[in-house]
Amino acid sequence: MENNDFLFKRITEGIANTDFSGYTIQYPPMFLWGKARSNREILRSWSKSLANNFRHLGLYVHIPFCKQKCSFCRYFSQELAQRAALKDYLAALKKEIKIYKPLFAKFPLSSVYLGGGTPALLSLGQLKELFDALYMSFNLNQCRQISFEGNPDFLSWTKLKLLKKYGVNRLTIGIQSLDSRVLESANRYQSKESFERCFQDARNAGIANINVDLMVGLSGQTAKSVLKTLEEVIRLRPELIHIHPFYPTALTAFMQAGGQLSKEEMDLRERLAKISQAVIRQAGYAAIEFDANGLNPAARNVQLSDAIEHNSPFLGLGAGAVSHATGYSRYVNLNDPDKYCYSLNQGKLPIQSTCRLTQRDEMIYFITSWLRYGRVSKERFRDIFKKDPDKVFAKEIAYLKTRKKIKDTPGFLCSKSANMGEYAIFSKYFYDQKIIAKCRAVLSPLAGRIKRADMKYLYF
Ligand SMILES: C[S@@+](CC[C@H](N)C(=O)[O-])C[C@H]1O[C@@H](n2cnc3c(N)ncnc32)[C@H](O)[C@@H]1O
Ligand code: SF4
Repeated sequence: MENNDFLFKRITEGIANTDFSGYTIQYPPMFLWGKARSNREILRSWSKSLANNFRHLGLYVHIPFCKQKCSFCRYFSQELAQRAALKDYLAALKKEIKIYKPLFAKFPLSSVYLGGGTPALLSLGQLKELFDALYMSFNLNQCRQISFEGNPDFLSWTKLKLLKKYGVNRLTIGIQSLDSRVLESANRYQSKESFERCFQDARNAGIANINVDLMVGLSGQTAKSVLKTLEEVIRLRPELIHIHPFYPTALTAFMQAGGQLSKEEMDLRERLAKISQAVIRQAGYAAIEFDANGLNPAARNVQLSDAIEHNSPFLGLGAGAVSHATGYSRYVNLNDPDKYCYSLNQGKLPIQSTCRLTQRDEMIYFITSWLRYGRVSKERFRDIFKKDPDKVFAKEIAYLKTRKKIKDTPGFLCSKSANMGEYAIFSKYFYDQKIIAKCRAVLSPLAGRIKRADMKYLYF
């Protein structure tokens, strides 16, 4: 195999700069996906996929509006100019639900995830309307987890009680930092008080698991500021704490305004991530499989871990949401709320692009996503694909062994990448040659600009 490190770094950047969905472990990369398909074709691929009776089936719902856009945010969401937009959006969402209902109604969902954007911007009545539509259209009798992405400023005690009533058992609170100067420079204004109030209310409402999202590497963030935030968060004992190193992409307002991280800032970000990790571990948190550091494996994002561990399907609803009809296709919805609503008002599924999948695509996705979390279980691979990974990927494994980037044991393929940047490069050696060629054709004009020393600065 040839050394493709530079090209793989370019692909990583290509994925990051076009990824608005948070669907970061993309295979095949979304920038290669083809044209949208008709309702009939989409529903046919679901009908074939669901016929396999997967034990795990996820439902993701995206609410792409926020009060204001944080300058670091790489995800698809836009400022909510008028509350009427939420009303129209909800009406369209219900139309989308109606199209899938006849096909999905009898298959039990194992997880539901309401994300954004800021789903907490929905009023009490709108949240009720959304949950009622979900409960009436899907089978939630065996649902293990209902997750909700909550912004403390919009989660009143009454909303939290309502979430609990509708079965939400995992709340993820994004705060990033409790340092008001850091938040202000990121165009974000939540206060320490509103976070603590929301946290305690969620506990009192009986929401079983709480995750807190923090970021390091933001403008103006020092070790002192990060440690202070960590101290205050850890004191509350959330079940999970995510540390996201700030990864600026072309989709962030930060980069769009000409911002860049200097080498020193990237080094500081790496140091802050390491310090945070050490502090969290010292406070009794441990790595949870397919997730962050936590107190309790039940608090992990079940939808994400099912998708990785079992290669299970998930249906994405809402503008910009991704779906995976396992064995058949992946596709993504239009990432424009107006176009999304227009399409559904015409009775048409709001698809932006699609990708037909082969079994090899599924196997490569499985390997690359497991490697992201450290190691691939060969037994699980054989269970799912009825093939031996050592044979299917003999060449790739041999090559990565010579580069000392993988350890091959009888039970596992273990990643030896030193950091996420290296993982992003080396996991791509499992990519299919045809996909590599397509990526090369799309990205080659830029390949000459890459510097080897930059590699460790990549993050997800
Ligand atoms: C899908 S976002 C939405 C979360 C929610 N709207 C909020 O603000 O809390 C989930 C998390 O991704 C992280 N995030 C957003 N942009 C990022 C970036 N450019 N680099 C690293 N992490 C980022 C933040 O920690 C954020 O809480
Ligand atoms: S981080 Fe959250 S609140 Fe900020 S813009 Fe992104 S989705 Fe909206």
